[in-house]
Amino acid sequence: MTQPFDIAFKPFKFMSLSMKNRFIRSATIEGMAEPDGSPGNALRSLYENLGAGGIGLISTGSCCPDPEWIGASKGQLVLNEKTDLSAWAETVQTVHRNGALISLQMAPFVFLGGKFTGPSVYKEGVCRITTDEIDRLADVYAKIAVMARKLGMDAVQVHGGHGYGLSQFLSPFFNQREDDYGGSPENRVRIFADIRRAIADKAGADFPVWIKMNAFDGVPGGLTPEVAAPYGPLLKKAGYGAIEVTGGVMAGTHNSRGPIEKTQWFEGFYLEGAQKLKAAVDVPVCAVGGIRKLEMIGSILSRGTADLISLSRPVIREPGLINRWAAGDSAPARCISCNGCFTMVMKGEGLFCVQEIKASRPG
Ligand SMILES: Cc1cc2nc3c(=O)[nH]c(=O)nc-3n(C[C@H](O)[C@H](O)[C@H](O)COP(=O)(O)O)c2cc1C
Ligand code: SF4
Repeated sequence: MTQPFDIAFKPFKFMSLSMKNRFIRSATIEGMAEPDGSPGNALRSLYENLGAGGIGLISTGSCCPDPEWIGASKGQLVLNEKTDLSAWAETVQTVHRNGALISLQMAPFVFLGGKFTGPSVYKEGVCRITTDEIDRLADVYAKIAVMARKLGMDAVQVHGGHGYGLSQFLSPFFNQREDDYGGSPENRVRIFADIRRAIADKAGADFPVWIKMNAFDGVPGGLTPEVAAPYGPLLKKAGYGAIEVTGGVMAGTHNSRGPIEKTQWFEGFYLEGAQKLKAAVDVPVCAVGGIRKLEMIGSILSRGTADLISLSRPVIREPGLINRWAAGDSAPARCISCNGCFTMVMKGEGLFCVQEIKASRPG
């Protein structure tokens, strides 16, 4: 008997790319890079397992183009001329050999030149980014996109989510600017258009670029799906080939992993944003956040809420989840959303499922 989720396992054209299915590993900072920021054996084998486990496209952990200016956290990926490019190239080849595509997620800024920076001084201690710095930022992203293309990566993703610097531009709460970068939807999206243009100029207009963006901040006066929907056509016009829809900010009621209060967690917690974006724009929309069951995946795809399915924690616990589902074992993902993996990455321990470790210990 055919099922609404069957379509998830069929090939899908994504920008100019051909994916073997509709499953994406959502960008997940691994904290496992070598001291120079390049991927070593540990990270390569993680990607190898994800590719071999059936994921169609791996969006890398947030990768920093310039740690001296933007600031990178411990073990975060870095890509620039000072990093080991042969290690990077080997990683891209490993993913391709395992049948998956790879897209580089370009880190958003939080600090610029060591200073906590955003579009506006929404609280004490935040520096307002200048237009010169915005120009420089666009060039930095263009440079990393050139390198990603040369390495054979299939795409790059701009990280416009989770309340970091770029995400804040989209938000009526964080972005209080009165210049060309604030106020109207066109102005709030302008920095993304600048980055997209710089990438097209330097890396070629045909190199696929997509965005992960917030459609819900979870702070009073912040971004909501209704406010976010009109950004869709503007991003498409700017040249973004697909939109992954997320939510949450560092100090709100929600973070990238859903409602902060565990009692308020629900499946598919950012789907409303995906649905509103999908209704507003005709580029592929990718749903992410708390997707754990094939029934929900079937419903998202068959109702046209989104075109692609992104998973982070489910494939930390089960890198072979997609192959398991494809083979007919339709039990939900085993991830219980405890966020233990996130805590470990933040402590610099690398990316792994703490529940799997607990389960493997005798007694
Ligand atoms: C350990 C960890 C690291 C993450 N790092 C990133 C990141 O680098 N970039 C990003 O856009 N989202 C990041 N996220 C958020 C996930 O991509 C995803 O949006 C979120 O976890 C919700 O999806 P899920 O319920 O499938 O995990 C991270 C999440 C976790 C658990
Ligand atoms: S540590 Fe918790 S949230 Fe992370 S993958 Fe394991 S079960 Fe899921």
